[in-house]
Amino acid sequence: MERTMYAGRVRAEHIGQEITLKGWVGRRRDLGGLIFIDLRDREGIMQLVINPEEVSAEVMATAESLRTEFVIEVTGQVAAREQANDNLPTGQVELKVSALTVLNTAKTTPFEIKDGVEAADETRLRYRYLDLRRPEMLENFKLRAKVTHSIRNYLDELEFIDVETPMLTKSTPEGARDYLVPSRVSQGHFYALPQSPQITKQLLMNAGFDRYYQIVKCFRDEDLRGDRQPEFTQVDLETSFLSEKEIQDITEGMIAKVMKDTKGIDVTLPFPRMAYDDAMNNYGSDKPDTRFDMLLQDLTNIVKDVDFKVFSEAPAVKAIVVKNNADKYSRKNIDQMTEVAKQFGAKGLAWVKYVDGTVTGPIAKFLTSIEDKLTAALQLENNDLVLFVADTLEVANNTLGALRTRIAKELDMIDNSKFNFLWVVDWPMFEWSEEEGRYMSAHHPFTLPTEESAHELEGDLAKVRAVAYDIVLNGYELGGGSLRINQKDMQERMFKALGFSAEDANDQFGFLLEAMDYGFPPHGGLAIGLDRFVMILAGKDNIREVIAFPKNNKASDPMTQAPSLVADKQLEELALSIENND
Ligand code: AMO
Ligand code: AMP
Repeated sequence: MERTMYAGRVRAEHIGQEITLKGWVGRRRDLGGLIFIDLRDREGIMQLVINPEEVSAEVMATAESLRTEFVIEVTGQVAAREQANDNLPTGQVELKVSALTVLNTAKTTPFEIKDGVEAADETRLRYRYLDLRRPEMLENFKLRAKVTHSIRNYLDELEFIDVETPMLTKSTPEGARDYLVPSRVSQGHFYALPQSPQITKQLLMNAGFDRYYQIVKCFRDEDLRGDRQPEFTQVDLETSFLSEKEIQDITEGMIAKVMKDTKGIDVTLPFPRMAYDDAMNNYGSDKPDTRFDMLLQDLTNIVKDVDFKVFSEAPAVKAIVVKNNADKYSRKNIDQMTEVAKQFGAKGLAWVKYVDGTVTGPIAKFLTSIEDKLTAALQLENNDLVLFVADTLEVANNTLGALRTRIAKELDMIDNSKFNFLWVVDWPMFEWSEEEGRYMSAHHPFTLPTEESAHELEGDLAKVRAVAYDIVLNGYELGGGSLRINQKDMQERMFKALGFSAEDANDQFGFLLEAMDYGFPPHGGLAIGLDRFVMILAGKDNIREVIAFPKNNKASDPMTQAPSLVADKQLEELALSIENND
């Protein structure tokens, strides 16, 4: 029989109709000779009743054989339930089964197929198709599809052209390691999977496409976190002849439409702009979560004369005040936070409590001479906890920024119904890498320096500013972009500043430099991390929840066992051999 509708969509208006449904057996209850079954499909759950007085012995026998997750086809009449279940959209009705066929049987599943299931992450990934069968997971993907649909409509309306760019390509430096693919035809040569379509989209601007977009997979071999996967998806845009403001306006319009289409929320435009330096100094993060305060305070001048070398000799002393919660923090709690602080490079975490009008705690004795100043500067009130880090400005900011978000979560200070979008602007072009011992691009090497600071490419690289902008949502970096270099001379200066020899620059990016000889228009764009956006909209804190078949923390897939060894013959064809370190 053909299916007539989804089980999850049967309503009181269908009472009296004969319908055929197909789906999975959920809960089964046998009550006074009747068998009740929850039939589940994509759209929800519907109750089936099998009554021995109304069906053949054969149907009854089949019904008795049913186990959870069997796939069945049922036909019957929709009837009103004696006792409605208001918690279920189909709760007014049930199906009085007249015909029942088993389409497939199922073993007992490794975890129950229901929302809020508590299975180990590895088990969920190993049986991902069962995990995805859980209604809350399916909802994430319906949401994701709505988001991409909304984005495509918006960009199509603005006459962006959707263009695919190659996956087997050459390295594009976005700051991670490349995934390499060996070539069989050119042995010893490798393609790189794109970290982003950055260079190809720029070349599409040279081609005169004017407005490009793509919802595209990107690949980065980097340390994984909750908001990072080795393969992830960007909503990638590029435009010619537009200012950064125009590009930001287009992006805001896109986000506003997604928020309206998927959540029914009207966001306020334009989004606030925050300078990178202010973000770092006030929030200790280049992706500030502005849903709560607890801003970082600079105490360097106030503590410079105290008799406590940790403070008086440090280049910077900064603090956060945890309002009205000092009593919640024992020494043990603070010791734990000190360990966190140390992971961010801090040498320690000093603290005081403000109780009944006095500053107390182990270092309070060093602060008596400035107690009034401190109390005033931090606007201390009873039961406040102050946490201090004395270090370089960078370490102090990063450490307190991390503690700030950790404490806000711990104390439930964040309003989860808020969606706080903002632009972080006025970026430095370069950041110092301790690991590499040199300056690296804060974004990528194609970012346009500001006119006022470009001369520092041959001077102090710390002073070069970029025409770059990141879009931040609730403490996540949602996306980023910039105006690009379109002049060959400037691109060559940039490569030089990054330490490329002319020869290396030519080897890696000669094709781009060459393109700049042929009327490359001014251009710029941005990319939004689609997985992150959907994750936040879905109220989750790991992008795995919105990626159908993600990798685990070791970048492998417990279901397919990828990555895996390959046959010797395959290696031979590629002229590769594996050194065994066993
Ligand atoms: P960027 O490197 O900032 O910019 O990447 C853009 C956005 O992609 C998302 N993202 C990730 N999401 C999940 N897992 C990852 N490993 C991951 N890495 C990045 C983030 C990020 O903001 N070509 C430039 C854009 C441009 O300049 O137009 C680029 O790729 O949300
Ligand atoms: P000490 O003088 O090392 O016993 O440290 C006294 C207190 O100051 C302890 O709570 C340390 O964790 C803390 N502390 C030490 N170094 C720093 C620092 N650089 N910044 C903030 N607190 C520190």
